[in-house]
Amino acid sequence: MKRFLIAGASSGIGYALADALLQQQHEVLSLSRTTPDLPVAQHISYDVKDSNEPPAIDGVLDGLVYCPGSINLKPFKSLKQTDFQNDLDISLHGAIKIIQRYLPNLQQSPQASIVLFSTVAVQTGMPYHTSVAAAKGAVEGFARALAAELAPKIRVNVIAPSLVKTPLAARLTDNDTKIQAAADRHPLKRIGEANDIAAMASFLLSDNTSWMTGQVLHIDGGMSSLKL
Ligand SMILES: NC(=O)c1ccc[n+]([C@@H]2O[C@H](COP(=O)([O-])OP(=O)(O)OC[C@H]3O[C@@H](n4cnc5c(N)ncnc54)[C@H](OP(=O)(O)O)[C@@H]3O)[C@@H](O)[C@H]2O)c1
Repeated sequence: MKRFLIAGASSGIGYALADALLQQQHEVLSLSRTTPDLPVAQHISYDVKDSNEPPAIDGVLDGLVYCPGSINLKPFKSLKQTDFQNDLDISLHGAIKIIQRYLPNLQQSPQASIVLFSTVAVQTGMPYHTSVAAAKGAVEGFARALAAELAPKIRVNVIAPSLVKTPLAARLTDNDTKIQAAADRHPLKRIGEANDIAAMASFLLSDNTSWMTGQVLHIDGGMSSLKL
């Protein structure tokens, strides 16, 4: 049994991951604004945009997964500085704050794993994605540098999904026509489910990936690498 902290276990990918880890008998702690309806060992009620530090926790952490993110898709000319700042705050600065706060707990593990989230739109340029791509591109650079600095005791990897059916993506997936159109754009002809991504996050937390760090995993139905 291992002990993991999931920032964002109340919804979407983080929820699916927490559920899977609990079924594997791991201990799961959660951090978010709302409490997940899952039997987590401890919930930390915290907004990652808060200027105060999150509370300290006791004991070892074998892994930390940071899920908060945004999908703010607009033409570049319509995006305001505050949009860029907001996306950076939630995806990058929140992750930095949470990792710095709980690093002493991760350092108590013989080998800990950190998992962060990017997007397919960093590898592949897409219209209306400048703000989210800037924020998630920063996450990818941050993660590689952090992986170098924390090796060999702590591994750091990133998952870059394409469209996944979660509350975050509700505006893009709220009817069958939108879902079918999005599915057709993917080489594997469907959009992602939270479990597709949670399965990779669970793998990255496990000892099966103990020789893997500094990687960006493209779990995207083939979107970033195939052209049919
Ligand atoms: N879904 C997609 O299509 C897609 C595509 C590419 C990348 N991604 C990335 O994948 C990651 C997970 O996305 P998802 O679709 O699972 O999102 P989601 O369903 O919106 O879940 C996000 C989780 O993060 C928490 N969270 C959000 N803002 C927070 C804040 N200010 N403070 C504390 N916790 C906060 C939420 O909890 P509370 O609301 O309770 O605080 C929730 O548990 C994100 O980084 C996203 O950018 C998603």
